Amino acid sequence: MAKFQVPLIKNPLGTGEFYYFCTSEPKYKTKTLTTNKGLVKHHPMDKILIIGAAGQLGSELTRALADQFGSDQVIATDLRPTASTLFPYCRFEVLDVMNKESLGALVKKERVTQIYHLAAVLSATGEKNPQFAWQLNMDSLLHVLELAKECELDKIYWPSSIAVFGPSTPKVNTPQFCEKDPNTVYGISKLAGEGWCNYYFEKYGVDVRSLRYPGLIGYKSLPGGGTTDYAVDIYHKAISKQPFTCFLSEDTYLPMMYMPDAIKATLDLMNAPKEAVKIRSSYNLAGMSFSPKEIFASIKKEVPNFEINYQVDFRQSIADSWPDSIDDSRARADWGWKPSYDLDSMSRDILKHLPAFFPPQF
Ligand SMILES: NC(=O)c1ccc[n+]([C@@H]2O[C@H](COP(=O)([O-])OP(=O)(O)OC[C@H]3O[C@@H](n4cnc5c(N)ncnc54)[C@H](O)[C@@H]3O)[C@@H](O)[C@H]2O)c1
Repeated sequence: MAKFQVPLIKNPLGTGEFYYFCTSEPKYKTKTLTTNKGLVKHHPMDKILIIGAAGQLGSELTRALADQFGSDQVIATDLRPTASTLFPYCRFEVLDVMNKESLGALVKKERVTQIYHLAAVLSATGEKNPQFAWQLNMDSLLHVLELAKECELDKIYWPSSIAVFGPSTPKVNTPQFCEKDPNTVYGISKLAGEGWCNYYFEKYGVDVRSLRYPGLIGYKSLPGGGTTDYAVDIYHKAISKQPFTCFLSEDTYLPMMYMPDAIKATLDLMNAPKEAVKIRSSYNLAGMSFSPKEIFASIKKEVPNFEINYQVDFRQSIADSWPDSIDDSRARADWGWKPSYDLDSMSRDILKHLPAFFPPQF
């Protein structure tokens, strides 16, 4: 844990934020112990590193983090050099998270205090090269956790997934704690990762926090090879007035979440006082649950001539092993989680904004 030279000093703004001097670095740092009416302010010394920032989640989360902490306090990194164009508002560095030395050097040089580690091989892509998926997903997490321990970083964020569940898991309102027998290498790596997060918290006091995201749906970027990608692709076809071919059957229910809710959940969890975060493996998180037939009907309310057909592929068996819906009562009770969007409000919002980001293909 960080060494205090001076006692915690209450922030004069009364935001529940405390300053202390960390002798091991040495520098002033901040700790948010309590919040005042949900307001969380940060010390200008907070330095946020995002790994895998150019992906579906990272490209939106990085913007939100820059808004919260200030653009100068955020460093976006990704393997892809071309991703720099996504971040005109903050610093971008090419970083391969598998290169432990480069990662460590950047964290130390920039005096990073928090890491959001988003790089991963997702469920459908992982099945094409399981060894590689395991290596990237596991080694990268261990690099980050070791660094957090060594450098006494303030906080780590690492996302898990509903892919930790499997065929033996209760499918409806899947509880936080239940049987998990994932049948994809992605799910196996996420379940093992949850165990490592809990281990580093228990053994070394690393303040690592995690959410089991459902399928994430956004309009600002393209999905990265997951089983729930259809629920993003379908909107692209709808605005282009083209029929949509769905790779899952029409009655396949899956837990899903609109991106603004996912960003809000992530920030809420990371801004919660440490004592409120009682689960250190990963929190169940729910937004909505629907089938291809239902998302099609929702879009059809806005695009009456829209058509759908079905050509089921290997992703059906992955979807069949995942829950229909999720019980997220622990997230609601521990740090006040509440989603804002349902299927129809999400559809209206996406259809309104998507053409500005991805012009229709006629
Ligand atoms: N998108 C979803 O529906 C969803 C659902 C559940 C969990 N998650 C989790 O959220 C996180 C982000 O997901 P996403 O959808 O944004 O993924 P994505 O595939 O869209 O983005 C991942 C990013 O990581 C980068 N990356 C890959 N290898 C790297 C490496 N070696 N070093 C540095 N960067 C590298 C890629 O270039 C990419 O920009 C992942 O951990 C994923 O498992 C996503």
